[in-house]
Amino acid sequence: MRKQIAAANWKMNLTYQEGEKLLDDIFDAGTSLAPHQHAIFAVPYPYLIMTRSEVAEEFNYHVAAQNCHHKKSGAYTGEVSVDMLQSIGVHYCIVGHSERREYNAETNAMLADKVNLCQENGITPIFCCGEPLDIREAGTQNEFVAAQLRESLFHLPAARIKGIIIAYEPIWAIGTGRTASTAQAQEMHHFLRSVIADHYGKDIADEIPILYGGSVKANNAEELFSSPDVDGGLVGGASLVAADFTAIISALK
Ligand code: PGA
Repeated sequence: MRKQIAAANWKMNLTYQEGEKLLDDIFDAGTSLAPHQHAIFAVPYPYLIMTRSEVAEEFNYHVAAQNCHHKKSGAYTGEVSVDMLQSIGVHYCIVGHSERREYNAETNAMLADKVNLCQENGITPIFCCGEPLDIREAGTQNEFVAAQLRESLFHLPAARIKGIIIAYEPIWAIGTGRTASTAQAQEMHHFLRSVIADHYGKDIADEIPILYGGSVKANNAEELFSSPDVDGGLVGGASLVAADFTAIISALK
């Protein structure tokens, strides 16, 4: 079975102490994961080492960075390189979150460089895509999101694309409490899988986890995840509450 993943994206929230307590509360709940299920915590950079030491990778709990720089190293004050992440045992990294695309002017070409650097360092990119509201209202969301995949991922050879996790996050649903309907999510996930299949073949497309993001909550996760092409979620707000994120982990197929 394809991997099913609940990924927490803390964004710029929580102090170190609050983050430690949240992790303790989640681990105290002792939710066990099947071999194909994974929980990933994308925490702020200063908490990566702490989180890395708390998560039990053997039980499919992992830590992720929320971002990395698109250059290997150099004079980029304040930035964090993929080599640095790799050197502290981080194995996942969110790439191309819509907030970074918007506030940090990240382009599809830059994201292609990040994906390459991550993979060269044994880090799995959690690649985000998704359309803004005006594109959804114009009905051109499929072309918009397909272009994001093409321009940042489709240079990869087949063996590499298999190592990607995709997160479809319609921007109009992020942090707004307005979730895509289960049908809208399934429709887009199915479309994305078909775009990958056209380029790489159905077998490869069928292996790639596609997560849904955008106001995933404890009370809608199970329904969203029940769709055949929705392989879990990338969760912002609800990942900051132990009981909610625990329920979301439990909702994985
Ligand atoms: P949200 O954020 O769950 O708060 O909508 C999701 C995300 O941005 O990854």
